[in-house]
Amino acid sequence: MSVLIDTYGRTHRNLRVSLTDRCSLRCTYCMPHDFAAWLPSEDLLTTDELLLIIDVAVSQGIDEVRLTGGEPLLRPDIVEIVERIAGLPNAPRLTLTTNGIRLPDLAAPLAKAGLNRINVSLDTLSRERFKTLTYRDRFDDVIRGLQAATHAGLFPVKVNSVLLKDVNDDEAPALLQWALENNYSLRFIEQMPLDAGGIWDRTTLITADEIYASLSQHYALTPVDGRGSAPAEEFYINGTKATVGIIGSVTRPFCGACDRIRLTSDGQLRSCLFSITETDVRTVLRDTSKSTANKREEIAARFTKTVFEKLPGHGINDPSFIAPPRPMSAIGG
Ligand code: 5AD
Ligand code: SF4
Repeated sequence: MSVLIDTYGRTHRNLRVSLTDRCSLRCTYCMPHDFAAWLPSEDLLTTDELLLIIDVAVSQGIDEVRLTGGEPLLRPDIVEIVERIAGLPNAPRLTLTTNGIRLPDLAAPLAKAGLNRINVSLDTLSRERFKTLTYRDRFDDVIRGLQAATHAGLFPVKVNSVLLKDVNDDEAPALLQWALENNYSLRFIEQMPLDAGGIWDRTTLITADEIYASLSQHYALTPVDGRGSAPAEEFYINGTKATVGIIGSVTRPFCGACDRIRLTSDGQLRSCLFSITETDVRTVLRDTSKSTANKREEIAARFTKTVFEKLPGHGINDPSFIAPPRPMSAIGG
């Protein structure tokens, strides 16, 4: 039974946990390439602290945990983290969003440790464009990582792509063809104002409608019914069971069905990617005057408060919208 119901009637079952704000790439839509304001390592939650928070969240009705970053596979004890979450009583479904670079080594151990599913971010099939987009020459590692995820049985392997004007906006059909050939489940995500460097620009946004139009020139797309709380609008491709997703975060907001809460790697709860306020749980965890039972009670209260204060929507389309001060890499996708 979930107790995390907000004032708009939305039940929260999905917790996104950022394990680090560091990343091996510098995707332009996520963080400035010369970004240097990393969180101090003593502020990052320890694995014991993470487990306690997740256990409390599960007791409040959270049934899916997604591990994110930055790049979650940079966390040295990532396999242990997965194993311990998977071993909790009433273990939540466990998924992970990664840039894929460390998957050649980690896909099999993660699957064995109890990871249920994986999302890999890849925006282009061109090594050169990958370099331009991410400031790193790691395209081949991502491709090998995707293959390793398939071999490890992390099915369906999902791929997330963000299209940017004049960078990779001509690639939607080619990405889909490649995904179909490799049995990856592809989703396009509209670029959101989360780069902390202010490069986001509505006038150059590649919209869900444009992505749909571009794919429709090559594929017959039929809407899949029953979207639930999922952000992606899914379409069957050419009358087959294969699907492609389009996430119109900006032009087709899905906030009304949102079931997500976020925990940053430095122990702050956020009710939304775009929140400008956060609720601290790190201080509670580190308060030596409190018993574990007291800490659990206080953390549960802070989850309830976070959900209670959740706004009806992200407000990107309001004239008064203010982008959050942290980059996406420090919030957790
Ligand atoms: N807009 C849309 N998607 C983004 N991601 C990162 N930053 C943005 C943004 N500004 C995506 C990444 C990854 C996931 C964690 O979020 O591509 O797939
Ligand atoms: Fe790293 Fe993901 Fe941000 Fe790219 S989008 S820089 S892979 S955290």
